[in-house]
Amino acid sequence: MTLSPVLTRHWAEPESWTLESYRRQEGYRALPKALRMQPDEVIATVKDAGLRGRGGAGFPTGMKWGFIPQGPGPDGTEKPHYLVVNADESEPGTCKDMPLMLATPHMLVEGVVIGSYAIRASHAFIYLRGETVSVLRRLQTAVEEAYAAGYLGRNILGSGYDLEVVVHAGAGAYICGEETALLDSLEGRRGQPRLRPPFPAVAGLYACPTVVNNVESIASVPAILANGVDWFRSFGTEKSPGTTIYSLSGHVTRPGQYEAPLGITLRELLSYAGGIRAGHTLKFWTPGGSSTPLFTDEHLDVALDYEGVAAAGSMLGTKALQIFDETTCVVRAVLRWTEFYAHESCGKCTPCREGTYWLVQLLQRLESGQGHSTDLDKLLDIADNINGKSFCALGDGAASPIFSSLKYFRDEYADHIRHGACPFDPSRTTVWA
Ligand code: NAI
Ligand code: SF4
Repeated sequence: MTLSPVLTRHWAEPESWTLESYRRQEGYRALPKALRMQPDEVIATVKDAGLRGRGGAGFPTGMKWGFIPQGPGPDGTEKPHYLVVNADESEPGTCKDMPLMLATPHMLVEGVVIGSYAIRASHAFIYLRGETVSVLRRLQTAVEEAYAAGYLGRNILGSGYDLEVVVHAGAGAYICGEETALLDSLEGRRGQPRLRPPFPAVAGLYACPTVVNNVESIASVPAILANGVDWFRSFGTEKSPGTTIYSLSGHVTRPGQYEAPLGITLRELLSYAGGIRAGHTLKFWTPGGSSTPLFTDEHLDVALDYEGVAAAGSMLGTKALQIFDETTCVVRAVLRWTEFYAHESCGKCTPCREGTYWLVQLLQRLESGQGHSTDLDKLLDIADNINGKSFCALGDGAASPIFSSLKYFRDEYADHIRHGACPFDPSRTTVWA
């Protein structure tokens, strides 16, 4: 398979983030077309295209839009609808939404108007991870430009449709990427997950029907409207159509974002990224960020689409391919990730709050060579008590690297105990501070 830039096609253009540049590249071509369609026709087009949520779960975007109840409820009144863009990209290794918003924020804004029109929302929010100040400024400028050009605000392009868009900067908590925690945070509360169901489509922002979509999902919409369903389906596989952005990081020659049809393999992506860094070999990698089970060099030819990765025992997730060569201590990598989860655990439920703490204690002991022979089963036991027993997906994500690293690299854990030190760095025999 070859690289197929669709979302990334303008990234190298001069000042690609400006309205002028986006229009030069045929930007805002899909919007008038969408506004001439009935909202339900727009939803049907996105459904037929088979676009799946690019935030990690792969839920069909058009189906999600179709869940928004239309017309008055049982009490005879109709609640407002909202579109919320989840731009809180925080999954370790994931770096696709931020560059997309930096390079072509208008592609997102155009998608926001089309999506909001489809679900009949008159207010949309872009919830951005707040530490990324440069992205915030770009988005705010793009939204201002779009208002001034008549793509936002009242009577958009003379269609009679009104939309207000707010860019909201969060405070940089991983949990606020979980859609219901994000909504709590947007409402001004502490960001902690809510019980689902009800899903946001039924009771979301201010208890009103809300679509929460990832940046890349929404930015994919203008090209679908402009080029049609068959064009979109000409990329990828039947169940995972389209192109997507894979983020390659770690021990590769040219790390970065590579857009390709869903179903490409790591072997193919590495051929574009210059391979594993010179003189080294692949040891393990994540297909979709640290929350997805690890793969090894056995998995180089797994099709990187939702079905292919699942059949091989992991998840496509955010398509964050973190690559590690043979110089990496897997115990240390897993410790790093687990410290992240323990730090980001919101504390609402016991299995995750307490479990991630204890995982860190055990991993620190093991990594520094002070572990006991019983620690490996203890790790599995704690991970088992988190997995499927936590309130939200963060807990499962924290357990995932424990299970998969022990599945493929149990001997390496055991070596740390046997040597009384990290075999990769024997000088490290004290508990890591
Ligand atoms: P999920 O599968 O529970 O839900 C996916 C989406 O479909 C949600 O918007 C949900 O509201 C909707 N949905 C599912 N069933 C529904 C129903 N019956 N009715 C109406 N709507 C329904 O997945 P979740 O927990 O929202 O996200 C987990 C994923 O997030 C993981 O796969 C992980 O890869 C990804 N993730 C992404 C991060 C990032 O930085 N982009 C960070 C952490 C995790
Ligand atoms: Fe909070 Fe973790 Fe429980 Fe999710 S799993 S609600 S992050 S404590």
